[in-house]
Amino acid sequence: MRNFSIEKIENPFDCELDNIASDKSISHRCAMFSLLSAQTSHIKNFLCAQDTLNTLNIVEKLGAKVIRNGSDIQITAPKNLSEPDDVLDCGNSGTAIRLFCGLLSSIEGSFVLTGDKYLRARPMKRVANPLRDIGAKIEGREEGNKAPLFIKGQKNLKAFTYTSPINSAQVKSAMILAALRANDTSKYKEKELTRDHSERMLKGMGVDIHTDEEGFINISPIKEDLKAINMTVPADPSSAFFFALAAAITKGSRVLLKNVSLNPTRIEAYKVLAKMGVIVNFKQKENIYEPIGDIEVINNELNAVEVKQNISWLIDELPALGIAMSLAKGTSKVSNASELRVKESDRIKSLVTNLAKCGIKYKEYEDGYEIIGGEIKKATINSHGDHRVAMSFAIAGLHSGMDIEDVECILTSFPNFEELLKLLSTPPRTRKEG
Ligand code: S3P
Repeated sequence: MRNFSIEKIENPFDCELDNIASDKSISHRCAMFSLLSAQTSHIKNFLCAQDTLNTLNIVEKLGAKVIRNGSDIQITAPKNLSEPDDVLDCGNSGTAIRLFCGLLSSIEGSFVLTGDKYLRARPMKRVANPLRDIGAKIEGREEGNKAPLFIKGQKNLKAFTYTSPINSAQVKSAMILAALRANDTSKYKEKELTRDHSERMLKGMGVDIHTDEEGFINISPIKEDLKAINMTVPADPSSAFFFALAAAITKGSRVLLKNVSLNPTRIEAYKVLAKMGVIVNFKQKENIYEPIGDIEVINNELNAVEVKQNISWLIDELPALGIAMSLAKGTSKVSNASELRVKESDRIKSLVTNLAKCGIKYKEYEDGYEIIGGEIKKATINSHGDHRVAMSFAIAGLHSGMDIEDVECILTSFPNFEELLKLLSTPPRTRKEG
């Protein structure tokens, strides 16, 4: 188990970051969706972190030819995906296991999907059950709810009309992938729009997919060959958010986060920071499947905030927002967020128990928490194996110093996090990255 100590930062910083980790959701999809095209996909700036490299490894095990030159990747899919002679290890990634469930359910062959101890403890029936309802054969531990999952791919999945009780882009994407090989047009509806990278990318590849007036996403099965993926993956707004938080809590500081995905479903946390008083400016520069640009964040006094809507747009940033709430004036409240309990860790528990160690007062509810703003004290934090918890408290350490236990998990999404963090405390002339 690796631990690390963060020193309190002595001076304000002003820096540009142009090598923030690439978007994890988009990288997973680039690798997986390449399997749907007969042409070679070219992906630049692919996220070379544990989660997405595991996905790439699975894509290779399914028969694709993968040529990797640093973060530039070329993927050529075989005509028919092959049945691998080994289990497919998704590591820590809920996105990988759930999307592969949808994709492999319709491919003839036997597949075993597994992951690390954290992933094997997370619920899978949210994808397995709606897939079973359309004819997929999926077995798993604990009445089919836990990995390892055994999938016996079926040729003729039934088209569906499904309204999901859970707001989850992973469930939505799994069902969309299954729909691509179903016997007719399928319809999927969610209560609130969740991240829509799958819809955007598949549309770009030539899939007939659109949302109707009733809010159903209509997905037609693939008829002809899809276009290859050709894209440079932008920086991940959820990873970049840790540095937005750093500027938000460090007096007199400013950060410019370069070439970040500005997909509206991914930047809500920045809007919450702005609501708390921080100055946030977005500048869109290009649009490849989705909007991409820079985000400027300038420190200002923090005020408490109430968060109860668009939770799926904040699900990965709420631990970091918890640090901002702890240093804000007043009591902040998060509700309607029980999904936090089934992420890489129970993020409600891992946030509030660690905040308590830092001397912050809180109230815990089944679906959220209240945080009473105060002064964060140095403490020894347990990441609970959750990368976002580890990085959130690392940033809190800039304010007061922090010892964090079990930080290997950071490698699942943000391999150069520590390197960028050090940059914030280096003298002004060398602050500029790039
Ligand atoms: C993801 C969706 C989200 C998010 C995860 C990535 C994706 O999960 O928390 O980090 O790439 O589809 P849910 O869709 O289950 O909320």
